[in-house]
Amino acid sequence: MKFTYYGHSCFAVETKGVRLLFDPFISPNELAKAIDVEQIEADYILVSHGHADHIADCVQIARRTGATVICSWEIHEWLQKQGVTNTHPMNTGGKKSFDFGTVKCVVAQHSSSLPDGTYGGNPMGFVIIGERHFYYSGDTALTMDMQLVPQHAQTAFCVLPIGDNFTMGYEDAARAAHMIQCNKIIGVHYNTFPYIAIDTEIAIKHFEKTGLELLLPEIGATIDV
Ligand code: NI
Ligand code: MN
Repeated sequence: MKFTYYGHSCFAVETKGVRLLFDPFISPNELAKAIDVEQIEADYILVSHGHADHIADCVQIARRTGATVICSWEIHEWLQKQGVTNTHPMNTGGKKSFDFGTVKCVVAQHSSSLPDGTYGGNPMGFVIIGERHFYYSGDTALTMDMQLVPQHAQTAFCVLPIGDNFTMGYEDAARAAHMIQCNKIIGVHYNTFPYIAIDTEIAIKHFEKTGLELLLPEIGATIDV
């Protein structure tokens, strides 16, 4: 499977010829100026919560590509009002099979409102059970609920925020990695804004100390996962 990083918490995973795009936030990201939003293809867009730094380009990409947007019930209702008709609403605890695999929605300890102030429902993480299993936590605090993740799937890699301030920092992300029993972590949600600036070398060394691998792909880079 291929993982492409688009900056902040936006990434794509290509599996079985299906392209999954997560938390599209590209055009407002100063660090992602080299990425052309118009060139991004998607069959599915998964939105963890309604904050602008996770949904900014969702309407535009969904309209252009016709991708199915998987999100909370409340975000689904909001997207319908923006003219995005191909949506699949879910909520925490629910799972559903799609052509690329199964999506299990799990707890994220965060908040969720849409850019216009509309309530966004529960923030969520996603466990994707498919060709290779993986977990994207969305924006979240470290939470004991993460101990349930390995009961849903033995993950090949996981995508966790490491930027602190609004979410887990790298220390809590390393604790999360042990809870979810996964030693290959792709770090996201760092360095986009001054609030979440971190020293990435320290973060990588911190992971190494406990036998974990922290991958921080360059924006625009594609890696095998
Ligand atoms: Ni957020
Ligand atoms: Mn965020």
